[in-house]
Amino acid sequence: MKKTENKSNPLIEEEELLNKFVSDSDNKDTPKPRTHGFIFACTNKSESELISNSLIVTGKPYANKVFAVKEGDFIFLYNLDTDTLFGTFRAVGEPFFDKSIRIFNGKYPYGIKFEKPDEIKKISKASLLFKKINISWKDILTEKGALVIKSHIENRPLFIPTNNNLIDELYRPQISSTTLWDFPIQSYGDVAKGNNKYPGVTPAFIIYNLIWRYTEPGDLVCDPMAGSGTTIDVCKEERRRVVAFDIVPTREDIIQADARNLPLQDNSVDMVFIDSPYGDNIKYNNHPENIGNLPATSDKFFEELEKVMVECKRILKEEKILAWLIGDQWAKGIFVPVGFKVYDLLTKYFVPVDVVCVVRRNQSSNTPFWHSKAIQHNFFLRGYKHLIIVKKSSKAYINPHKKKIEWNFYER
Ligand SMILES: C[S@@+](CC[C@H](N)C(=O)[O-])C[C@H]1O[C@@H](n2cnc3c(N)ncnc32)[C@H](O)[C@@H]1O
Repeated sequence: MKKTENKSNPLIEEEELLNKFVSDSDNKDTPKPRTHGFIFACTNKSESELISNSLIVTGKPYANKVFAVKEGDFIFLYNLDTDTLFGTFRAVGEPFFDKSIRIFNGKYPYGIKFEKPDEIKKISKASLLFKKINISWKDILTEKGALVIKSHIENRPLFIPTNNNLIDELYRPQISSTTLWDFPIQSYGDVAKGNNKYPGVTPAFIIYNLIWRYTEPGDLVCDPMAGSGTTIDVCKEERRRVVAFDIVPTREDIIQADARNLPLQDNSVDMVFIDSPYGDNIKYNNHPENIGNLPATSDKFFEELEKVMVECKRILKEEKILAWLIGDQWAKGIFVPVGFKVYDLLTKYFVPVDVVCVVRRNQSSNTPFWHSKAIQHNFFLRGYKHLIIVKKSSKAYINPHKKKIEWNFYER
């Protein structure tokens, strides 16, 4: 952009500076993690306490957002009661999880410290700014987005281009609130999770959602059939401890073991995630104990999966979650509802928690050839997988039919 001499248009000059700043920090010779911007909400009650302690703390709904912050990221504090935005702060150190934190009686245990500027600036009617630059305070901002907000707070607003790139939509997935999960790509963020060339690789957002729902930072997660290690990479980034096994490990941090006989003590892990073979549709390896060499049409396939379930129950702590990802099979005219069969087996040992439908994307059959074959020969391509969530619980299972539910009925 051309530098302007026109004093009445200082915004263009600022934009030029902004672009320079962003491209300098993206310099490939000195690779460093990209900087982001985070807006955290507060109320009249919490504003002064957070600012005076140089601290953001939150509860479960924004825990994953706090844990996405890195040292040096931009932080803004948004008072929802007064519609005022404060800044600009910079994150210091690592996010933490501290159940015994004194502030707000420990109600908000997830936090990050920040550094204050010499003078804290603020902007009122912040929602108008969010609207103008087309963001929500819940979004994770790019460095550019953070700088645009900083410039407004400092009362020297930067010009905002139409193609603005102020939000980093794929930096962290959303935590899904429904049982239909869909994410456009296998991985997210700055670091790859697993290997998207590995046959049957798990979409990383599934593991991200599960660990933020069912575990806390520092908990131990186990993946007994780890494949390319997606679970390891997600857990490390979200600060969970992780132990992963596979019959044929693909990397050094995966331990060689059979999922039916894991070298772990009883009641030792806080969550198990498993994306098992769905039959013999994918050639993982030729190991004789690879369950993925057994066809889903055989009883033996389900007998071996059942042994894995028993082993998962043994290693799980009481009241903790096992999440099992599984797809159905249609091959050569034969349909096997693998998901329903696995659900049936799991509920012999565990209490059901829920079943999520995970939209399948980027599978090899997603080609015009296969779409046309599916219509011509009247079969369906697999559009989703089942994510079966169960709990190890020795407490008496409450039969849902015996529990009376009071429904609200509305007049039509
Ligand atoms: C669907 S893949 C897992 C994908 C993995 N979650 C990822 O993101 O890359 C299933 C894995 O189960 C492994 N497997 C099959 N039989 C096994 C067994 N008996 N014990 C442990 N792993 C086994 C296969 O080697 C394969 O890597």
